[in-house]
Amino acid sequence: MPMHTTDRRARPIIHGMHIHPGFQRGGGAGLPESPAPHSVPSSPQEVFSGVEGDSPESGRRLMKRIHLLNRRSLLKGVGLLASLSLVPGRLHAAEGGGAAEVSPLEDLMREHGVLSRVLLIYEEILGRVRSGRGFPAEVLQKSADLIRRFIEDYHEKLEEEYLFPRFEKAGRLVELVRVLKEQHHAGRRLTDSILGWLQSAESKEKQDELKLARDLSLFIRMYRPHKAREDTVLFPALHSLVSAKDFERMGDQFEDREKGLFGENGFGQIVTKVAAMERDLGIFELSRVTPKI
Ligand SMILES: [Fe+2]
Repeated sequence: MPMHTTDRRARPIIHGMHIHPGFQRGGGAGLPESPAPHSVPSSPQEVFSGVEGDSPESGRRLMKRIHLLNRRSLLKGVGLLASLSLVPGRLHAAEGGGAAEVSPLEDLMREHGVLSRVLLIYEEILGRVRSGRGFPAEVLQKSADLIRRFIEDYHEKLEEEYLFPRFEKAGRLVELVRVLKEQHHAGRRLTDSILGWLQSAESKEKQDELKLARDLSLFIRMYRPHKAREDTVLFPALHSLVSAKDFERMGDQFEDREKGLFGENGFGQIVTKVAAMERDLGIFELSRVTPKI
């Protein structure tokens, strides 16, 4: 059972009142945010020591080979990828995978993971609005800001600049791309509306909760199938449109963009922020949704 707590960092609002403590379920006191320390390799040698034999010496031999080859190319090589699958997750050592090399599609898909978690936050807030309970406005503000900065101004820009034009040029999945682009625009309009609602709420103007509920509902309704279609149809099809070299270059460009906008280990920091918002809402603990059957 989740612990009951009232997090004082979360600013209670809505209906201009305080949140009833009974509605503040959970609070993140259970699961640690980071994996157990022993699951995180502390050095490159440790990362690779199990790939070819178990000795540290064999790991060093592999590291030497890596210095001789472009690391990204190596990681994407079919043969080595097959080997690395024997040690799943070891290359993605940092919390949120921030420190590891990732392919451009993995990059986009893990960003969809962030989007999914924000959709859960939106869903929790929507449920509280519909049932007349309060919710911390600060969490909605942070969530909408994150959607704007990380999803709309970064993730979707990558799709719009690097993926969609390739499909259009090749005449592949053109109708799907048209709808996806239209949905990006619709998502931005909804975020404008949510942020506008927050501003009007702060200035004590009339709070139209029905409008907020509608915006959150439309956003969630659209983005779940949107990202699922990209993950299962658009992204896999990219392989047939780009050469291995182009794919590699794209990965570097994504990485550079992410570092430029969010700094070193930017993805890991975004994940940490999402986890903090989940804690503020009391929905962080994964075990809370395990059915007791
Ligand atoms: Fe998209």
